Amino acid sequence: DWTMRAFREEEIQKIRAQVGKGRVICGLSGGVDSAVAAVLIHEAIGDQLTCVFVDHGLMRLNEAETVVDLFRHHYNIPLVHVDASKQFLGELEGVTDPEKKRKTIGRLFIEVFEEEARKIGGADFLAQGTLYPDVIESVSFTGGPSVTIKSHHNVGGLPERMNMKLVEPLRELFKDEVRKLGRELGLPEIFVGRHPFPGPGLAIRCPGDITRDKLEILRQADAVYIDQIRKAGLYDEIWQAFAVLLPVKTVGVMGDGRTYDYVVGLRAVTSTDGMTADFYQFDMKFLGETATRIINEVKGVNRVVYDVTSKPPGTIEWE
Ligand code: XMP
Repeated sequence: DWTMRAFREEEIQKIRAQVGKGRVICGLSGGVDSAVAAVLIHEAIGDQLTCVFVDHGLMRLNEAETVVDLFRHHYNIPLVHVDASKQFLGELEGVTDPEKKRKTIGRLFIEVFEEEARKIGGADFLAQGTLYPDVIESVSFTGGPSVTIKSHHNVGGLPERMNMKLVEPLRELFKDEVRKLGRELGLPEIFVGRHPFPGPGLAIRCPGDITRDKLEILRQADAVYIDQIRKAGLYDEIWQAFAVLLPVKTVGVMGDGRTYDYVVGLRAVTSTDGMTADFYQFDMKFLGETATRIINEVKGVNRVVYDVTSKPPGTIEWE
């Protein structure tokens, strides 16, 4: 793609001009945007860049390993991997309010990130994978829920506090363009094509209080669901698909015994930018088989439901 090749070259020059001999720190979220930003910046300035991946313990199955492996071994990009799950899950204990979850995670994220930045001797610049829709959203919805939604994602307040300037090479791009750029930079397709994942992670897919046990059930169910979608060849048609663990147990029957286990909700939507979305119309056979697999393979689940709400009125995430 020639436009992306040109964009890549142009941005590399811009990054070099902006950064000079300065040091840059980039927070990786596990998502496509921050990964593409990091790889582009690394191409521009090499080891003047250090990446920090704060693992809050709210990642999907094998997600942390995938990111670490990609950056350290595939790209050789200096990466600090912080396992902060104890701290995050500790402070989230008993927190049920969705906004409080976001705020707690956002605050901790900044604290941990700041601490790591200090450990590596600080930096002059903070790199972020901010996209064009993020820029628009925070302008046009000032004070509205969208600002709160994104507030932790762009580590708000951190650059000022640490006296860092921002490097945001993706500010003019939409999601599909970021994916093109990622391919141009040689990121593996499985990574580039991944569905968006929210900064607060599984915390907002686990309504009610969050425990390690619930997160583990959710991770397993989500992995089976995504596996089903990939096998059916539907992954790329869908904007986002994920499982939600409901804070309810219901009665079921298995063999000759009564069960009393959790309900898993399945969500899948099509969208172009996440601002509006339609629920995805799977065929019933697919849903039935997926439910059977989840119930058979994931201990602690005995019922599966499918979310048929579009956005609006529903949001994509459940919290
Ligand atoms: P909603 O649920 O508001 O989501 O329809 C729209 C898109 O934004 C993602 N999302 C978030 N991303 N931090 C993020 O980085 C958040 O707190 C957050 N909340 C929602 C969501 O996954 C969807 O792609």
